Amino acid sequence: QELELKLEMLEKGGYDHFMLKEIYEQPRSIYDSMRGRIYPLDGKVQLGGLVEYSEKLRNANRIIIVACGTSWHAGLVGEYLIEEFARLPVEVEYASEFRYRNPIINENDIVIAISQSGETADTMAAIQLAKEKGATLLGICNVVGSSIPRLTHGGAYTHAGPEIGVASTKAFTAQVTVLTLMALYIAQIKGTISQSKLISLLTELETIPSLVEETLKTNDQIIQIASELQDSRNCIFLGRGTGFPVALEGALKLKEISYIHAEGYPAAEMKHGPIALIDEEMPVIVIATKNSSYEKVISNIQEVKARKGKVVAIVTEGDVDVKDMADYSIEIPHADEAFLPLLATIPLQLISYHIAVMRGCNVDQPRNLAKSVTVE
Ligand code: AGP
Repeated sequence: QELELKLEMLEKGGYDHFMLKEIYEQPRSIYDSMRGRIYPLDGKVQLGGLVEYSEKLRNANRIIIVACGTSWHAGLVGEYLIEEFARLPVEVEYASEFRYRNPIINENDIVIAISQSGETADTMAAIQLAKEKGATLLGICNVVGSSIPRLTHGGAYTHAGPEIGVASTKAFTAQVTVLTLMALYIAQIKGTISQSKLISLLTELETIPSLVEETLKTNDQIIQIASELQDSRNCIFLGRGTGFPVALEGALKLKEISYIHAEGYPAAEMKHGPIALIDEEMPVIVIATKNSSYEKVISNIQEVKARKGKVVAIVTEGDVDVKDMADYSIEIPHADEAFLPLLATIPLQLISYHIAVMRGCNVDQPRNLAKSVTVE
């Protein structure tokens, strides 16, 4: 019994839970997911699993992304980045809906299937359907040799290493890293991005692992905030632009490991109904980093404060304006808006983790959940 416990502690690398270990592995897993694929000085992205499909990517009319859960949130980030850089229309579909909807799929559609496990039944069925209709299938998976890489024509692995915690953390940021590379790769072959822009983005992307390292240092402050929020019965996450999928992912993390009801919304959606939920019992976690929608997020925070909501803001380090407005603020390093999801997600993972631990929940194996949903 004691030996078993010791072995398990070793497996967790000294962390209390696999989930915490995997949160702290993200500087490494993000680095590994871009290693050998970016050449900043030459302004070049290289994705071996896509080379054969370069022509198809160049001539594609649209990209459809199919996934479930956290992988679907990564797909939403991919939509923003691929449309922004490669100017290619992207639709992100829940695989479970796509497979039963009789969707319109054309020969020159590219379908990207995102899956950590590579075994999710709904995603596999969506792939099968798209393949039968003649689309080109690319996979983004974390398990080499799993079913989805064998079902798709090409793709790119995330190199996050085994993810044991049921709640996905490092796989999400690894998926976002690969989607970022794909967006830049397609832009590169379509010529929709300048060499200088590519050089500056790749040079900054290379620093992201160390910026994630820096972001993890907010852990002690986050423990304080988690203790304030641990008895909440509900929580709302808000973001704009690439911060919106991050809000959805933050809400899912909190739901699945602490069992607190949480929802993510585009910040501007609050006035279309959800703001009726705001009172002093309702914590609102806002991605309020300095980016193109910063001013608007500020006014969203003011709307929440006017209704006595408790605001936790994720801000760009040095931002004193939001700090004065919010009840709590967590500073993350400045980075290009395209890379925001890789940084802003980290505090949300830690908030959910610490709240779940304080509530005595089974963090690595939450109730009713499985690591891979291989049934429909
Ligand atoms: C994420 O924390 C959940 N465990 C779940 O939503 C997961 O992302 C979903 O089941 C998809 O799994 P996959 O990435 O292995 O396909």
